[in-house]
Amino acid sequence: MTKIRIAVQKSGRLNEDSLAILKDCGISIDNGKDQLKATARNFPLEVFYLRNGDIPQYLRDGVVDIAIIGENVLVEKGQDISVVEKLNFSKCRVSLAVPKGVKYNSVKDLEGKKIATSYPNTVNGYLKSKGVTADLHIINGSVEIAPNIGLADGICDIVSSGSTLFKNNLKEVDVILTSEAVLAVSPTISEERMEILKKIQFRIKSVLQARQ
Ligand code: PRP
Ligand code: MG
Repeated sequence: MTKIRIAVQKSGRLNEDSLAILKDCGISIDNGKDQLKATARNFPLEVFYLRNGDIPQYLRDGVVDIAIIGENVLVEKGQDISVVEKLNFSKCRVSLAVPKGVKYNSVKDLEGKKIATSYPNTVNGYLKSKGVTADLHIINGSVEIAPNIGLADGICDIVSSGSTLFKNNLKEVDVILTSEAVLAVSPTISEERMEILKKIQFRIKSVLQARQ
């Protein structure tokens, strides 16, 4: 029997809520914790646990058919991937932040400055739209520490509760985008799997309605 292949975040902030929404859709998945792949018991679906940043490419290549992913990741590296449902969890912002003591009036203050980020395309697009040129330092995690160790003048990263900024003595100065978890679809999904996707979407819509 044909199964639809869904990517969910392997570990991190989306993982639990992604599995919870599938569960609420009545889809039970054996959670072999260290397994990278699992099969649903009562629905034609296989789950692939992947790194967030790899998911757009897996969708593009048709290795998976659908994915639960943050919009922020699609903005950064999956502008060509379509979204079929917004899932109303994992809400966050991608923002610029600078040390609390630094005066900041507008993004123009970042002209010629060093910005540490894991979202280079997002930052570059934003800076370009504002006519600002800055020097990006691409790092993969713990971005907020960069200004404190003299590596950058500012940062661009995900802000959710704001506690990481607070702990690192930074202030959010510009929101580049707002994001939430979404259901995204491979451009190469087959007709047959499209039918399975429609069933999932139908269930997701009622779950989201019931959660309101
Ligand atoms: C994420 C993100 C921010 C933080 C935002 O980091 O990169 O640093 O969460 O959340 P908050 O506003 O609620 O503090 P994460 O803890 O996932 O670690 P990483 O950056 O090392 O990947
Ligand atoms: Mg972080």
